[in-house]
Amino acid sequence: MSLTQQLGEYRLRVDTHLDQLLTVSSIDPVLQEAMKYGLFNGGKRVRPALVYMVANTLGADLNRVDDLAAAIECIHSYSLIHDDLPAMDDDALRRGKPTCHIAYDEATAILAGDALQCLAFEVISASNLPSDDLIEAIRVLSFASGHRGMCVGQSFDLRHEGLPLNLAQLEAMHHHKTGALITASVELGWVASGCKDVQVRAQLVEYSKAIGLAFQVKDDILDIEADTETLGKPQGSDLEKNKPTYPALLGLEGAKAKLSELHQSAIAAIESLPYNVDALKAMADYIVDRTH
Ligand code: IPE
Ligand code: IPE
Ligand code: MG
Ligand code: MG
Ligand code: MG
Repeated sequence: MSLTQQLGEYRLRVDTHLDQLLTVSSIDPVLQEAMKYGLFNGGKRVRPALVYMVANTLGADLNRVDDLAAAIECIHSYSLIHDDLPAMDDDALRRGKPTCHIAYDEATAILAGDALQCLAFEVISASNLPSDDLIEAIRVLSFASGHRGMCVGQSFDLRHEGLPLNLAQLEAMHHHKTGALITASVELGWVASGCKDVQVRAQLVEYSKAIGLAFQVKDDILDIEADTETLGKPQGSDLEKNKPTYPALLGLEGAKAKLSELHQSAIAAIESLPYNVDALKAMADYIVDRTH
């Protein structure tokens, strides 16, 4: 099966699961609508796909994986709703549609993000994984989302708009704001599979760090090279806000050279695993070649 087919299959799978989670009666249906608006708007579902892909590579039954795949997308979608808020990147377009705070209002967008974050942990807590694995999944996701993961990366990003960063600072920022959730996706796949081999986990984490950083380097390049329609978010947003990015520091060619270095490191990290890692290699290709 081609990567495109596989991504399509995983997207459908996680979307079906998410839809079920968000179809309950509510005293204020607007909140649930705004959550759905933030979730179901053409996201690529890269993080859930990674959870499925790693679990599948390790031989897992995918029925064990749905809750963890849904949970990581809830966290990611919440992070995007908040990232676009006026107090953060102040963007009006996301996934080709008005951002959540424009379609609804700021308070509703903040609450939709908050509620998606809670839903992620609710879903994992209620999953039927063995309790040790379930607790590990909660630990992985909470670590990656919080003050040592995505949130601190976002905070650092906002605090350094217009300020010069050195390469180490830039790399640390990208590792936190974007890499952390990509690493969590890969670790959740390992947890869901029931594999207990820590060497396998370490190699997968190595792979995830390279593709996680590559993902944000590519995002920064696309901000310059792609058009708004293809991106589904405003082209040039980083430049306009004087964001610290790889192209800003290394130039466009320097950023592209970094991207190809990271791609090679990702492949090297998993090559010796005693599994068929073709899908994970194809995913690394996709992350550096993607057009949006
Ligand atoms: C965008 O993530 C934000 C970053 C972390 C770079 P994606 O490019 O995965 O966004 P969607 O989910 O496909 O919209
Ligand atoms: C956002 O980075 C990373 C998150 C944790 C949401 P960006 O601010 O570059 O993401 P886009 O370009 O708005 O999607
Ligand atoms: Mg941002
Ligand atoms: Mg942004
Ligand atoms: Mg960006």
